[in-house]
Amino acid sequence: MKILGIGLESKWKVLFKCLFLVSLSLQLVECHSITLLDTPKFMNENATIFHPLISPSKNSFTNLSLLSDVELKDLPWWCSCSAELEEVEDESECHCEGPKLLLIPQDFINITRLSIANSKFKILRESGLRKYAPSLKDIILMRLNEFYQIEPEAFKNIRHLRTIYISHAPRLQFIAAETFRHVSHSLKTLRITNSGLREVPDMRFLVNGGILSQIDFEGNQISEIFENSIRISTEQLILDNNVLTTIHRSSFNGSQIGKLSLKGNTKLFKLHELAFEGIESIQELDLSSTSIQLLPSIGLDKLEVLRIQNTQSLKQIPSVYMFKSLVKAWLTHSFHCCAFKFPQRHDPESFKRHRALIDNFKSECKAKGYSQLNDADPTSFNNYGNSIGTNIDRRRRRKRRTVETYIIEDDESNITFPYSSDSNSLDGDDIDGLFHEPLKFSNSSLEALCGNLSIDVKDVQCYPVPDVLNPCEDVMGSSWLRACVWIVVSLAIIGNVAVLVVLLMNQSEFTVPKFLMCNLALADFCMGIYLMLIASIDLHSMGEYFNFAYDWQYGIGCKTAGWLTVFAGNLSVFTLTIITVERWFAITHAIYLNKRLKHRKAYCIMICGWLYSITMAIMPLFGISNYSSTRYVKLSMSSQEAVGSLFN
Ligand SMILES: *[C@@H]1O[C@H](CO)[C@@H](O)[C@H](O)[C@H]1NC(C)=O
Ligand SMILES: *[C@@H]1O[C@H](CO)[C@@H](O)[C@H](O)[C@H]1NC(C)=O
Ligand SMILES: *[C@@H]1O[C@H](CO)[C@@H](O)[C@H](O)[C@H]1NC(C)=O
Ligand SMILES: *[C@@H]1O[C@H](CO)[C@@H](O)[C@H](O)[C@H]1NC(C)=O
Ligand SMILES: *[C@@H]1O[C@H](CO)[C@@H](O)[C@H](O)[C@H]1NC(C)=O
Ligand SMILES: *[C@@H]1O[C@H](CO)[C@@H](O)[C@H](O)[C@H]1NC(C)=O
Ligand SMILES: *[C@@H]1O[C@H](CO)[C@@H](O)[C@H](O)[C@H]1NC(C)=O
Repeated sequence: MKILGIGLESKWKVLFKCLFLVSLSLQLVECHSITLLDTPKFMNENATIFHPLISPSKNSFTNLSLLSDVELKDLPWWCSCSAELEEVEDESECHCEGPKLLLIPQDFINITRLSIANSKFKILRESGLRKYAPSLKDIILMRLNEFYQIEPEAFKNIRHLRTIYISHAPRLQFIAAETFRHVSHSLKTLRITNSGLREVPDMRFLVNGGILSQIDFEGNQISEIFENSIRISTEQLILDNNVLTTIHRSSFNGSQIGKLSLKGNTKLFKLHELAFEGIESIQELDLSSTSIQLLPSIGLDKLEVLRIQNTQSLKQIPSVYMFKSLVKAWLTHSFHCCAFKFPQRHDPESFKRHRALIDNFKSECKAKGYSQLNDADPTSFNNYGNSIGTNIDRRRRRKRRTVETYIIEDDESNITFPYSSDSNSLDGDDIDGLFHEPLKFSNSSLEALCGNLSIDVKDVQCYPVPDVLNPCEDVMGSSWLRACVWIVVSLAIIGNVAVLVVLLMNQSEFTVPKFLMCNLALADFCMGIYLMLIASIDLHSMGEYFNFAYDWQYGIGCKTAGWLTVFAGNLSVFTLTIITVERWFAITHAIYLNKRLKHRKAYCIMICGWLYSITMAIMPLFGISNYSSTRYVKLSMSSQEAVGSLFN
């Protein structure tokens, strides 16, 4: 007993020790990875370490290689400053961290980048950065669990401010508009990511500063964007992975945005029809992984790149003519690409309007002749010029004039084309020409302007590309297939009904083989119905399947058809097997009449068969497998089966 007890005890001890060791090693791994991540890359051997125990005023510094990580961790806080960044010569940076760091240390001289991390730092005070104002360019605040406020004048007088980067500050929920009033016009990047922001900060005071290169509010808690709440000029506005549910009308009124990214807002389903109304310029829009049901087109006529991947909820897509400058699109469904390919059948109304516009141009061109194009209404040509889809090179920077004149040489005549760029809001010499690159007219676009006006399909590169399994126009690829299917449908239905009628009406004894035949006929009849469903959808949507594709793929039709075909296929195969076995039995045991399959057994077997088939068919309804992707495979398979069963 005692021995057993000791045994047990020691076993437990060993177990505990093991657990302890495992957890310790896990911790070690964790610590190691954290320190690896945490060690700033600029902490090289030349860095100077400041901490409260070594007064920097005495001009003493510690050689970093003498201080191990453990010693650093024991300090209440410490800063590591390196005089030179590797890339840029005259920049120096200080990185401070430590649990007791509550105020920004004031011990450094002429630093250009200041980063604070992993501390209980709470408020960025007005006085905090004052000492560094003349030289400071970048401010980085990372992993500050307690940080919750920026005082309104915190960024005052920082003349060369370039970057504000705050990340992992979960208590930072709100930033007052006043904060940005004092931010220098040199600011290029504003990033507040993975923090607690509840709404997009009011940035109206940032506008005067020209174009920012990035505004990033990824991973915050922003749930709504309100009317007229964003008015900025930026190359990128990122609102990814928030908890957005609603974007109200005119939310971006007056903004100029190179790329607007709203992806990963999986609950975003209320995107107002006029959400993008009033937006002055937008080149790229990303609405991937959202729940939008409708894509607004108003305000997006300068859009060049559109991404809506992984958004099953989007049913309709606006006519391609609504997006006058669209060049590339990545969508969820290929039938939306079909809509771009066949604008006339997708939206005849828009097509008519577009045609009228072109006719208008044509008559105008004819009436006035090339050389008098100057008199033409510049705005209408402006619109059309956009629709040519000139690729605006974002990287290119140029000075602009308010009115630019382009002289284009042609074989027949010289054309002067006036183009007034609406740049009143963006005057200033050093602003780059991000939003108003001059249009470059090649020979062909000139032709399009006045020579060869055509109502051609706009050439939008659209993905996913429609293929055989996801056709644009017809469910059945060709008319002979259609004819064949209809023949098979009628034969399958008439034939199987005939079999059923004959077998059931027959007055003679209802034998087991007859019962099995009835089941087979029923299964094949279902297959016939399925084929009829497909064939009628094909007939119904002839030439414009893409307009029906959503309803078909997500509606009851496809589910019914899918259920029918899986059910019928399984039941048919099952019954055929049973019939074969039964016949084999009957032949090999021809003399023993009592060794036949009895009625009761046959019924039991067939009930099992039905249950099996129904289960198999129901499974995809619960998402275990998918009907729509295998639609065509099934179609060809089932038509063969139907033909086969006819000749049985
Ligand atoms: C440290 O300083 C020395 C001499 O000033 C220099 O040669 C070396 O490259 C520096 N090391 C780093 C990592 O900057
Ligand atoms: C730092 O310490 C290392 C090794 O102890 C030494 O080789 C190096 O010269 C020291 N650097 C400075 C700047 O004192
Ligand atoms: C700090 O920068 C100013 C102006 O750039 C310069 O005059 C001054 O000498 C610098 N001070 C130090 C200690 O480098
Ligand atoms: C958009 O902004 C302009 C200028 O501030 C304003 O006049 C207009 O009413 C705004 N539009 C909407 C729909 O709020
Ligand atoms: C076009 O303009 C150039 C000079 O700008 C002139 O030499 C040329 O003759 C003109 N061509 C026609 C067809 O008017
Ligand atoms: C424009 O047309 C002229 C003469 O027809 C030709 O020499 C030139 O290469 C063309 N330019 C372009 C960009 O097609
Ligand atoms: C007009 O453009 C269409 C398509 O772009 C082309 O097929 C046709 O040949 C052109 N006509 C002339 C006269 O250039």
